[in-house]
Amino acid sequence: MKTSQYVLELLEQNRGKAVSGEELAAAIGVSRNAVWKAIEELRRSGVKINAKTKTGYFLPESDNSLSKEGITALLGDERFTVDVRHTVTSTNDLLKQLAVTGTPEGYALIAAEQTMGKGRFGRKFYSPDGSGVYISLLLRPKMKAEDSLFITTSAAVAVCRAVETISGGRLSPKIKWVNDIYINQKKVCGILTEAAVSFESGMLDYAVLGIGINITTPEGDFPEEIKGIATSLFGGTEQDNIRNRIAAEVLKELGGLIDAPDDKACLEEYKQRQLLIDRDIVVIKGDKRIFARALGVDERARLCVRYEDGSTEALISGEVSVRAAGN
Ligand code: BTN
Repeated sequence: MKTSQYVLELLEQNRGKAVSGEELAAAIGVSRNAVWKAIEELRRSGVKINAKTKTGYFLPESDNSLSKEGITALLGDERFTVDVRHTVTSTNDLLKQLAVTGTPEGYALIAAEQTMGKGRFGRKFYSPDGSGVYISLLLRPKMKAEDSLFITTSAAVAVCRAVETISGGRLSPKIKWVNDIYINQKKVCGILTEAAVSFESGMLDYAVLGIGINITTPEGDFPEEIKGIATSLFGGTEQDNIRNRIAAEVLKELGGLIDAPDDKACLEEYKQRQLLIDRDIVVIKGDKRIFARALGVDERARLCVRYEDGSTEALISGEVSVRAAGN
């Protein structure tokens, strides 16, 4: 590993606290001059490192840049390999390419910006720099293809738990069936799971779980077409080291998915966290819009609805989307 990376790791492990050049040099086993050169190299690459006379170097708490070292220091879970890139097309697309080359489970590709972020049904997922975090995690669960929806449902629960932890319980996220997280009736996060199936066994070969979270309101606000439906966790309020903290907390919660990909307890929590139950909704099937009442989510994660004519249906997520009536 390069000296600069060691230095960054040590500074991340002590974020906000000054570490002297001497301490860094001793911990890494290099000269103080080599540490100084590494600090300069990191600064040239854009890392904000402050210096306090006679005390040492430190990363400011308020810095919000995303980094592998920052996430790894907070995560402390060796099952994950964290790979942070600044700008990518789509973390899901890149991770699918890595998956076919044999990349192991637990590989997390995290970006600060996506130029072609995508959502369900080929929709675009707005992924600007500076205000969100875009995460894809590679999973290799021993799971039948038909159960792959439970990856999305468990991930939705994981994101809700992470948001509650990071906000100290101040935010109460809800899940809008099947893959969106809402706060105050607006979307704050979308989840997209893409999987490859082995034809012979009908089992999943791999799954790429993609999660995009709006952390703060983008500079100049959300684009007109999503302004009315999108929101962010913290609006314009600055939060210390927030992008690394959210990414690490979401990954921590997703650790459960590696241990028990089809955990039924998670489905119970998924049901309890639903936004639309007992509300009037619009079911969107192709170009048809049908009014209905959302009744609940069943054991197969289908949304059970009752139409105006009294008939009922259990909706399958790949075929329909829903929204609250009146929106
Ligand atoms: C949706 O809103 O329908 C799902 C959005 C999923 C967005 C995430 S961001 C990380 C990953 N990469 C993508 O291109 N999409 C997912």
